[in-house]
Amino acid sequence: MPYIIVTSRSPYSYDRVRGKINKRMNIGGVAIVLNDLISREGGTWVCWGDGTADHEFQEEDNGKFRISRILLTIQERRGFYDEYSNSTLWPLFHYFREKIQHDQKYFKIYQKVNELFAAAIEKSIRNKDEVIWIHDYQLSLVPGFLKEKGVTNPIIFTWHIPWVSDEFYSILPERELLLKSISSADSITFHTKEYRTNFRDSYEKIIGDPKSVDRKLHYYPLGIDYKAYEDIERFRKIPLAMQNTKIIFSIDRLDYTKGLIARVKAIESLLRNNPELSQKFMYLMIVTPSRTNVGQYMDLKNELEMNIGRINGEYGRIGWYPITYIYRKVSQKTLINYYKWADIALITPLIDGLNLVCKEFIAASNKGLLILSEFAGSAEDLNGAVKVNPNSIENLSSTLFSALSMPESEIMDRLNSLKEKVRRRDIQWWARKVTETIKRKESNVRNAGN
Ligand code: G6P
Repeated sequence: MPYIIVTSRSPYSYDRVRGKINKRMNIGGVAIVLNDLISREGGTWVCWGDGTADHEFQEEDNGKFRISRILLTIQERRGFYDEYSNSTLWPLFHYFREKIQHDQKYFKIYQKVNELFAAAIEKSIRNKDEVIWIHDYQLSLVPGFLKEKGVTNPIIFTWHIPWVSDEFYSILPERELLLKSISSADSITFHTKEYRTNFRDSYEKIIGDPKSVDRKLHYYPLGIDYKAYEDIERFRKIPLAMQNTKIIFSIDRLDYTKGLIARVKAIESLLRNNPELSQKFMYLMIVTPSRTNVGQYMDLKNELEMNIGRINGEYGRIGWYPITYIYRKVSQKTLINYYKWADIALITPLIDGLNLVCKEFIAASNKGLLILSEFAGSAEDLNGAVKVNPNSIENLSSTLFSALSMPESEIMDRLNSLKEKVRRRDIQWWARKVTETIKRKESNVRNAGN
C-alpha cells in the first residue's frame, strides 16, 4: 500500500558546501521508520526543503520513493517555524503559559505554509489507495485543507507532542480551526492515553458532542529500533579518568521543557548535602543546539551555562568537575558509547510528548539505572524506572542520592524488565499499529457491506 508521508523536516536535505553538494540525513527515530516504510511500500514524501541546495532537488525520485520539497522564503520560515510553530504552539502544548507569543500575522503565514503542503500533497497523489500520513503540530491545518480540496484518500494524523487539558488549550485563539482540521483526518493517533483524553475533552468543550471523533482516536507509544542500539558490539572503553567514578548521563535538545536548570541545581544540592560524594561521580550532560533563531532558547543557554559555571567553580577540584557539559550534536555511535558507560541516565523533562532517549538508553545499557520524570510520556509504560517529580530539586537530589547506592541486583532487575517492554513495543510495532488503524477502518466498512 503506497504512502504519502508528510513531515515538516525532510528525510534528507542537500547543502552546498564549498561548491560541492552534500547530502545531510535526518537521523531521528521517526524519520528512520518512515523511511523504511515508504522505501518498502513506495509513494511520495512531502516535506520542507530546508537545505541550501534543496531547490536543485525540489522534485526527486530516488528509486525507492519520490520526494516533493516545499521551499520557503526567509519570512515564511520565520512565521511558520520560528514563530507560530515554536513560539505559539510549542509553549502552549507544553503548558508554558508565560512563553506563549501570539501574533495574527504569523498565524497567517503558518496557514499559508500548511496550504502549500496540502497543494503539494494533492499534486503527488497517484491513486485513491495511497494513505496520507501527516505528522505533528507544524502541520495541523493540512488535513482540513485536503478535505476542502475534495481529497478522498485515507488520512492519518499523528500528534507527537503532549495534548494539553481542554482548559489550557482554550487559550489558543485559533483553537476551533486547529481542532476541526485535525478531526477531519480519518485516524488520529497520540503517544499516551492522557493526550487522547485531553484531545477528546477539548473537542467536547470547543466543538460539541465528541461521538463523531471517538472512533478515530487512538494512542500508541512510539518505540525505537531496539536492535540498532543493542547490537553495537564494538564500543570504546571508558576513559581512565572516568573509571573510578559513577557516571550520570543525559542528552537533550536545548529546550526549556527539558528541566535542564533544575537538573544541574539538583547536582549542586546533592553535593551541598553530601560532601562525601565529591569526586565519587561525574555528570556528563550533552545538550544539542535547537531552534537557535528563537530568543527564548538562547536565553536558556546563557542561564544554563551560568549555573554550570557556578556549580563547577564551587565544587570542582583539580582534575575533577561535577558537571562535564558538552553543547553540540554527537554522532549516534558516540551516543551509544555514552549510554553504555552510564551508571545512571537522568531523564527529567518538565514535560515531554514521549522521550525516546530513555528507551535508547534501556536498549543500549547493560548495567544502568533509569531515573525518569513522571511528566515524560514514556513514564506511562516504563514501570521499572525510578520516577521523579522534576519540579522539586529536593526530590531530584534525594533520588540521585539513593540511586548512587542502589544494589546492583535491583538495578539489573529493573533494567531487564524495562528491556523486555522496550523490545516488544519497538518502532516497527508502533508503525504497524498506527497504519492498521486505517486498514481496520477499511475492513469494518467491507464487513458492514457484507
Ligand atoms: C521534538 C518533538 C517533535 C517535533 C520536533 C521538531 O523532537 O518531540 O514532536 O516534531 O521536536 O524539531 P525541530 O528540530 O524540527 O524543531
